Amino acid sequence: SDEIATNEAGHLTIGGVDTLELVSKYGSPLIAYDVSKIKSQINHFKQAFIDADVPYRVTYASKAFSAVAMYQLVAGEGLGCDVVSGGELVAALKGGMPAKRIEFHGNNKLPVELEMAVDAQIGCIVVDNFQEIAFLNKILKEKDTTISVVVRVAPGIEAETHKYISTGQENSKFGFDVHSGQAKKALKELIDNPRMNVLGVHCHIGSQIFAARGFVMAVDKMVSLLKQWNEEFGFSAKLLNLGGGFGARYVDSDQPSPAEDFVEQIIAEVKKKISEANLEFPEIWIEPGRSLAAEAGTTLYTVGSRKDVEGVCHFVSVDGGMGDNIRPALYQAKYAAILANKPHALKEQIVTVVGKYCESGDILVKDALLPITHPGDTLAVPSTGAYGYTMASNYNRNPRPAVVFCENGESKLIIRRETYEDLLNYDLGL
Ligand code: LLP
Repeated sequence: SDEIATNEAGHLTIGGVDTLELVSKYGSPLIAYDVSKIKSQINHFKQAFIDADVPYRVTYASKAFSAVAMYQLVAGEGLGCDVVSGGELVAALKGGMPAKRIEFHGNNKLPVELEMAVDAQIGCIVVDNFQEIAFLNKILKEKDTTISVVVRVAPGIEAETHKYISTGQENSKFGFDVHSGQAKKALKELIDNPRMNVLGVHCHIGSQIFAARGFVMAVDKMVSLLKQWNEEFGFSAKLLNLGGGFGARYVDSDQPSPAEDFVEQIIAEVKKKISEANLEFPEIWIEPGRSLAAEAGTTLYTVGSRKDVEGVCHFVSVDGGMGDNIRPALYQAKYAAILANKPHALKEQIVTVVGKYCESGDILVKDALLPITHPGDTLAVPSTGAYGYTMASNYNRNPRPAVVFCENGESKLIIRRETYEDLLNYDLGL
């Protein structure tokens, strides 16, 4: 990588903190965030909206990394957040995220989760399907109250990404289909319901998207939809939410557009289409998750055993693996590895970095170009800040790692390491 930060000792640093000190203080595997990287990404998104001079909201998609400290951080930066479960909602509220800045997503929000959202009077529920409207209506009636909603539609756009994480196409499980008229029917039902205040529309075309093109197409579709709804129902959207999906860089060959370029191109198209359609200018919302968290996080592992079969395989094992990062196994995601104690040493070997889990698919980095490694070395895997900890498991009864925030040469433990006692906590025996 072209931007490896090191100190006088020649060790890799994160947020100005020596990675070897981090491992000796907190143990490994350890997920260490450079807080300044999160803040800088947030500011890039915000500044682009400010420069474009449009009303906006940046809502952090907290499934990328849901930690109380993260909600505290993003709330402090003025962001809202998107939650997709009762658990994320509880964590967001615990992190002091103002309820009015929380939006709730999901294709099968449970009645009990909808009730939590109504009781907390969150900013809006992004309504996904007819069953949800019925559940929500029942809850609002029982409690004799109201809530703001946004209509999620599937705009029929195929984002160029992995099929498991592309969501905007017509056969997606998410949102009301536009072409069959479901979206229109849903809107009618919602605006006719005095307990639901319809703020606008939402779409999300996919994740790990590198270019603005798909978003620009989504803008066209969404604005023409708003025009139809305006003509047919006199509906005027207060907000247009274009979802998340802005790409992050995992390996050097990944070259996603910078945050400000995405926003600039999206806004240019919104301005053009809204004025052509002669509509009132809505607040523009985006929901970045990965692009705020991924590159800020690095996982630190300790090197253990090794297996070499000349001409066949070279495996270097570390003390974590698919339990803390399922993405290589699930999406064939690519990562790089850095020898944290000697990042600039001559890279003399190509090895496969594997974890300690009992599966051959437990691979973290295929074909990692590294200096010769020894047991006890610290190996860093960068760009693990999104969908790493949140998708972690206790497979093989391995405890989940600790997480630290690092900034200005200081570290703070924000999620403690699980203990064996934690792991046995739910286990009742015979
Ligand atoms: N908004 C909605 C409605 C979403 O469904 C998602 C992600 C986001 C925003 C945030 O997308 P982001 O900006 O993070 O790309 N586990 C997968 C990613 C799943 C994304 C699901 N939805 C992975 O590790 O790549």
